[in-house]
Order: sequence, then structure tokens, then C-alpha cells
Amino acid sequence: MKARKPLTGTAILLAGLVTLWAANVARSEERRVDAAKLPPASTKADVTYAKDIKPIFDNSCTGCHGEKRVKAKLRLDSLEHIRAGSKHGAVVTPGKIETSVLLRNIANLPGDEDDWMPPKDNKAKIAPLTKAEVGLVRAWIEQGAK
Ligand code: HEC
Repeated sequence: MKARKPLTGTAILLAGLVTLWAANVARSEERRVDAAKLPPASTKADVTYAKDIKPIFDNSCTGCHGEKRVKAKLRLDSLEHIRAGSKHGAVVTPGKIETSVLLRNIANLPGDEDDWMPPKDNKAKIAPLTKAEVGLVRAWIEQGAK
């Protein structure tokens, strides 16, 4: 009997670790972005946050993700804040749209209604981004999110 106890402990610990790992895999799967469902990237060269993206975010996002309100602990009013991500972690991976959940949120894909940004039927009546704007954000991320 005595010899079994540490083994049981180890088994419980291992089961716990496996559960944590599985939960993590499920979470990152949930946040994965299917590039095929997104509008095409803009063909514009040298897309930068300061020049191309900030005006879009200031218009449609920073009322909830800025200095005054910080929904999901995410600020979109500077490149540093965007890199810091949200309470759930990174929202943009430079050069990699598959793990840039922000892009999926603004693409307003069917089935993702709860995650649409700006939120569906928001009180401030901020309109969804246009396909051209989403394409520009896509190009910005593909080009390294500078
Ligand atoms: C009216 C308020 C509002 C506006 C405007 C808004 N958001 Fe959000 N955003 C939220 C809320 C609330 C959440 C948290 C949702 C949740 O946790 O379920 C959120 C969450 C997010 C997340 C998810 C963070 C994560 O890691 O899961 C991203 C990315 C995001 N918003 C991007 C944007 C972008 C980009 C815009 C502009 C195009 C925008 N939001 C406009 C309220 C807003």
C-alpha cells in the first residue's frame, strides 16, 4: 500500500498537466484564424500603423480600447499597446495572420458573432470596418505590423 501512494500522486499530477495542456491547445485552436475566410490583403506597399492603421482604429476602436475605456484590457491607440495584447494574450503576431485574432474579430465572420469588433449592435453605433479596411489591416500584419 505504502509504495502506491506516491504513484497515485504522480498519476494525479500527470492527469492535471495533461488537462492543462489540452485546455491550452483548445484555447489556441479557438483563437486560430482561417486565412481563407478573410478578405484579401490590400496590395499597398509599406503599410504602417502610424500612417494607415491608426486612423482606422481611432475611428472605430479606441472609444472602447483606448485611454479612457480598456475593454478586454486591450488598447489599440499605440503600437506598444497593441504588441502588449489583451487579457487573453497576443492579438497580433507580426507576419503571421493565423495567430492574429484581431483580424478575425474585425472580419465579422459568420458563426463568430459574439467576437465581432466593433461589437454587433454597439450603443455608440460604430459601423463594421469595410472589406477594404480589413484588407489593409491584413496587409499591415502580413508586412510585419510595423
Ligand atoms: C463598443 C465597444 C467596443 C468597440 C468600439 C470595439 N471593441 Fe473590441 N472589444 C470590446 C469588448 C467588450 C471586448 C471583450 C469581449 C469579450 O471579452 O468577450 C472586446 C474585445 C476585443 C478583442 C479580443 C481580445 C482577445 O484577446 O480576445 C479584440 C482583438 C478587439 N476587441 C479588437 C477591436 C478592434 C480592432 C476594434 C475596432 C475595429 C474594436 N475592438 C472595437 C468592445 C469594443
